[in-house]
Amino acid sequence: MSDFWCDKKVLVTGHTGFKGSWLCLWLTSLGAEVTGFARIPPTTPSLFDLARVGTGMTSLIGDVQDFAQVKKVVTDYRPEIVIHMAAQPLVRYSYQNPIETYATNVMGTVNVLEAVRMTDSVKVVVNVTTDKCYDNKEWCWGYREDEPMGGFDPYSNSKGCAELVTASYRNSFFNPADFAKHGVAIASARAGNVIGGGDWAEDRLIPDIMASCLKNTDVTVRNPHAIRPWQHVLEPLSGYLTLAQALYEQPTCFAEAWNFGPNDMDVKPVQWISDYILAKWGNGLSSLLDQNPQPHEATFLKLDCAKAKARLAWQPQWTLSLALDSIVAWYQAYQAGADMRDVTLSQIQSYPFNHS
Ligand SMILES: NC(=O)c1ccc[n+]([C@@H]2O[C@H](COP(=O)([O-])OP(=O)(O)OC[C@H]3O[C@@H](n4cnc5c(N)ncnc54)[C@H](O)[C@@H]3O)[C@@H](O)[C@H]2O)c1
Repeated sequence: MSDFWCDKKVLVTGHTGFKGSWLCLWLTSLGAEVTGFARIPPTTPSLFDLARVGTGMTSLIGDVQDFAQVKKVVTDYRPEIVIHMAAQPLVRYSYQNPIETYATNVMGTVNVLEAVRMTDSVKVVVNVTTDKCYDNKEWCWGYREDEPMGGFDPYSNSKGCAELVTASYRNSFFNPADFAKHGVAIASARAGNVIGGGDWAEDRLIPDIMASCLKNTDVTVRNPHAIRPWQHVLEPLSGYLTLAQALYEQPTCFAEAWNFGPNDMDVKPVQWISDYILAKWGNGLSSLLDQNPQPHEATFLKLDCAKAKARLAWQPQWTLSLALDSIVAWYQAYQAGADMRDVTLSQIQSYPFNHS
C-alpha cells in the first residue's frame, strides 16, 4: 500500500454510518484528504459522533436521492477516488420502507455515477453493495462474482439493482476498452455480514447482543440457525482500499465486481456468535429464542473470494474469534467511558495492513 493514500482526494458517501466512520478514520490516518457526503448519523449513539469522525475531514450532510446535491459535491470537491457506501442497509426496514430503500440504493447510485460522468476529476469509483445481491439458492457453495443478481427482500434486491446499474454505467460510459477517452475505472464490492465496534443499527445481531450486554439483560436471538459470512469491518474496508488502489494504478485490469468475504471456517450460525460473545462478556447472560414470526431472511449465504485472493492478493487477516474479541473490547471500553476515537484508531492500527 506504501504511501498511496497520502494526499489522495477521496469522496466517501455514507461517512456518518458504521462502515463509513471506520473507513474515514482509516483514510484520514493514512493521510488522505477526505470529503464525506451522507445524511445525519443513522443511530444514536453513533460511531461518527463518539469517535469525532468529522474531525480532520470535510463532512457534508445531504441526500443521494437529490442529484443536484450529489453533483455539487463532486463538482466542488473534485475527488479522484469515490467510495460509494450511502445506503438504506437494513433488510427488515426495507420490508416496511421499500420506496425509500430503492430510491436511496438504486437512484442514489445512479446519481453518484451520473455526477462522476459529468466531472473530469474522478479516476476511480468503488460501489459498495453486499453478499445479498446474489440470487440466493440456499446452497452450501459460495457465490462467485459472475453469478446472477437477485435478492428476495427489497434491500437485497435494491443492491442487486445497484450492481446492474454499475455494470450498465461501466458498459455504456466507463468501458475499459475506451479508457483513454473517459479516464474512469469503476468496480463494485460485495462484502459479507460486517461486524465491529460502534454499530448500533436496529435488528442487527451484534448491536442487539451488545445492547443487551450493556443493559445486563439476556439476549433475544431471531434466527439462531441462520449461517452468515461474518467478518470484521476492517476486512472488507481493506478490500475496498486494495481495490481502489489497483483500479487507480491499472485502470483497465480491475474494473469489474469483487467479493470480499471471510474464510470458510468463519461462516457460522447466529447462535454460535451469540454464545461466543456472551461467554466473553462474562456476566452470566443467556440467549433466548424470539418466538415471533419473522419476515423471510436467507438461511445460508457464503461468498467465494478466490478471485480477490488470486488477483488482488487480498485475504482476510483476522479470525472470527479475534474479530469478536476486538468487538467485545470495543464495547467494554465504551462502557468504561474511554475515548472511542483513540480506541477505534488503535484497533485500526493493530489490523495487519501497511499503515504508512
Ligand atoms: N453492515 C453490513 O453488514 C454490510 C454488509 C454488506 C454491505 N453493506 C453496505 O455497506 C454500506 C454501509 O453500511 P453500514 O452498515 O455502514 O450502514 P449505516 O446505516 O451505518 O450507514 C449508512 C450511511 O448511508 C447514509 N445514508 C442513508 N440514506 C442516505 C441518503 N438517502 N442520502 C445520503 N446518505 C444516506 C447514512 O446517513 C449513513 O451515513 C451500505 O451500502 C451497505 O449496504 C453493509
